[in-house]
Amino acid sequence: MLFILLVLGLIFLAYIFRPVLVIGKSCKSNAKLHGKTVIVTGSNTGIGKATAIEIAKRGARVILACRSKQRGEAALQDVKRSLNIQYLISTQLHHDADGSVLLHCSRSISRTILKFPLNIFFGVVLLGRTEDGFGTMFGVNHLGHFLLTNLLLDRLKDCAPSRVVTVSSTAHNWGRVDFNYLNTHKDLREGTSFWDSVMIYGDSKLCNVLFTHELAKRLQGTKVTCYSLHPGGIYTELARNKSSFVQMVLKYMGMYFFKNAVQGSQTTLHCALQEGIEHLSGRYFSNCTVREVFKKAKDDAASKKLWDISERFCGI
Ligand SMILES: NC(=O)c1ccc[n+]([C@@H]2O[C@H](COP(=O)([O-])OP(=O)(O)OC[C@H]3O[C@@H](n4cnc5c(N)ncnc54)[C@H](OP(=O)(O)O)[C@@H]3O)[C@@H](O)[C@H]2O)c1
Ligand SMILES: *[C@@H]1O[C@H](CO)[C@@H](O)[C@H](O)[C@H]1NC(C)=O
Ligand SMILES: *[C@@H]1O[C@H](CO)[C@@H](O)[C@H](O)[C@H]1NC(C)=O
Repeated sequence: MLFILLVLGLIFLAYIFRPVLVIGKSCKSNAKLHGKTVIVTGSNTGIGKATAIEIAKRGARVILACRSKQRGEAALQDVKRSLNIQYLISTQLHHDADGSVLLHCSRSISRTILKFPLNIFFGVVLLGRTEDGFGTMFGVNHLGHFLLTNLLLDRLKDCAPSRVVTVSSTAHNWGRVDFNYLNTHKDLREGTSFWDSVMIYGDSKLCNVLFTHELAKRLQGTKVTCYSLHPGGIYTELARNKSSFVQMVLKYMGMYFFKNAVQGSQTTLHCALQEGIEHLSGRYFSNCTVREVFKKAKDDAASKKLWDISERFCGI
């Protein structure tokens, strides 16, 4: 009895404080995007899709860059149902330890994209799956977006003002980049367990923040700016492979303790749309607010080193 009361009490408290503790601030910008082109990677589901829909509502031409043609097209139909015409580009940035498929796909997608004027580029970074094995998170979360950004950089400059938004995570706080290991193994660290994957995820998200730090320096004097961010804890497709009981429990927990996809897209939208944040290029955002990061996430030497090794891996 006491236990049930306790649980009910907790649920009640969670419900009352949810707007402040979980959901946080929303993007306040009213910016319209007519005549602009926005690429959203990983946009067939989750916060990428919610972001793409909001961007499309504001009049932009949106390119949904997804790894599965089928899932990408299904999402496209969803988006189209209420909105104007979209373009879809499918790509496969995954399952690729040695980089060749990754390079090929990024190159072909950038060729297609370069036909359009380009104003905003999103790196809604893709979460690699643990069972995809070694190197996936570095390749998908960092390297694919590194290459795509580089291939599109001249275009972004020509069409400026434009922005590069990279979805990192608060997980970057426990990340580190071991350059010796990266050099020899083309991965961030050794490991196969769930715990290792959590650590490697943090490493790859640190790469996102360092990448943005270095990119901002390289873009000084242009009208292209860049931002990294933590979107919050979001209930996306976390439970898609669990039993229906676990799914139900997670769903109700999710309703209280996690954001939904629309709430989870607000900080990304803020970084993409908010007027007057240009002087914060290279910085890290959370809850629609710029945040300080630890020294390791704004280390000039490390971010330069990561840039150089990434260029070498991509052959640029
Ligand atoms: N959810 C959270 O609480 C949270 C918290 C902090 C940061 N983030 C960050 O926010 C971003 C989006 O998260 P989300 O929760 O919206 O993710 P999601 O719902 O799982 O969707 C992620 C997207 O990544 C794609 N993807 C997954 N594995 C891939 C692979 N190996 N290769 C290529 N594409 C792959 C998915 O495509 P398929 O549908 O084809 O699998 C999908 O389009 C990620 O960068 C994540 O790190 C999320
Ligand atoms: C977001 O910021 C608002 C206003 O500063 C604050 O009240 C809220 O607690 C924050 N929420 C989160 C989830 O960080
Ligand atoms: C989920 O299950 C499907 C098949 O049912 C499988 O192909 C996929 O790899 C699984 N994904 C995860 C994250 O376990």
